[in-house]
Amino acid sequence: MYIVTGGGTGIGRAIALALRDQGRQVLITGRRPEPLANAGPGITAVACDNATPDGVRRMLDHVPGSVDGLIHCAGGNPAIGRPDPDSPEAEAALLAETVDGNLTSAALTVTALAPRMTAGASVVLFGSIAAEHGVGYYGPAKAAVASYAVGLAARLGPRGIRVNCVSPGYIADTEFFGGPLSREREQQLRAQTALDRTGLPEDAVALTLFLLSPEARHLTGQNLHLNGGAFTTR
Ligand SMILES: NC(=O)c1ccc[n+]([C@@H]2O[C@H](COP(=O)([O-])OP(=O)(O)OC[C@H]3O[C@@H](n4cnc5c(N)ncnc54)[C@H](OP(=O)(O)O)[C@@H]3O)[C@@H](O)[C@H]2O)c1
Repeated sequence: MYIVTGGGTGIGRAIALALRDQGRQVLITGRRPEPLANAGPGITAVACDNATPDGVRRMLDHVPGSVDGLIHCAGGNPAIGRPDPDSPEAEAALLAETVDGNLTSAALTVTALAPRMTAGASVVLFGSIAAEHGVGYYGPAKAAVASYAVGLAARLGPRGIRVNCVSPGYIADTEFFGGPLSREREQQLRAQTALDRTGLPEDAVALTLFLLSPEARHLTGQNLHLNGGAFTTR
């Protein structure tokens, strides 16, 4: 079975549909029931919060056997669309929410599912280009996700399980920004790429399907940037 957290919308939804179309057994999660209701035939949807112990237990109750792949898309930047925190308490709450949503959710989900993974299984965590730019608390939280993937790859490698992090730049057609970007902002982000194009969920699908496949058997512990050249490593 393949588990796609945050599979009700955006990148996760596109990955879940692609896996389902390949004939895989797929389970998706998300906190809101509404997006999960549109999961479509052949996909098991579980409403749960992957950043909480109870949430991951609920998910696990619906995983009948072994796990071939985990794609952890759950996450986001809770600061988007909110006023800046105006007290130390509000600052601490935003920081905790951001770390919980991105890093804690990854750690709890992996910890719950790792015992069910068999040799050949593949874990794909989602980071972000924001880690390179230090965006608010979201960038640091995503940097932590990429770092977590490194240690996890070393820990699970001896069991034949691979772990990688995919760090996208701007991807359109998701709920990440809570609504459509202005045309000006979208053009700005597009202009930052070397290819002068906007990333789409399908771009993340292609890379993720490769990382899940046996052809990626020597690829683990990596942070793979998916951004049309908006950020390069050399
Ligand atoms: N779109 C971009 O430009 C972009 C760029 C870089 C990185 N990313 C990363 O890519 C991943 C996928 O995001 P997306 O772009 O597809 O945006 P999205 O449409 O907002 O997808 C995120 C999904 O995760 C779910 N989710 C969030 N927190 C959760 C939790 N604690 N437990 C369970 N589900 C949770 C959300 O549903 P609920 O709210 O109902 O839980 C939503 O379905 C995220 O990790 C995001 O940070 C996106």
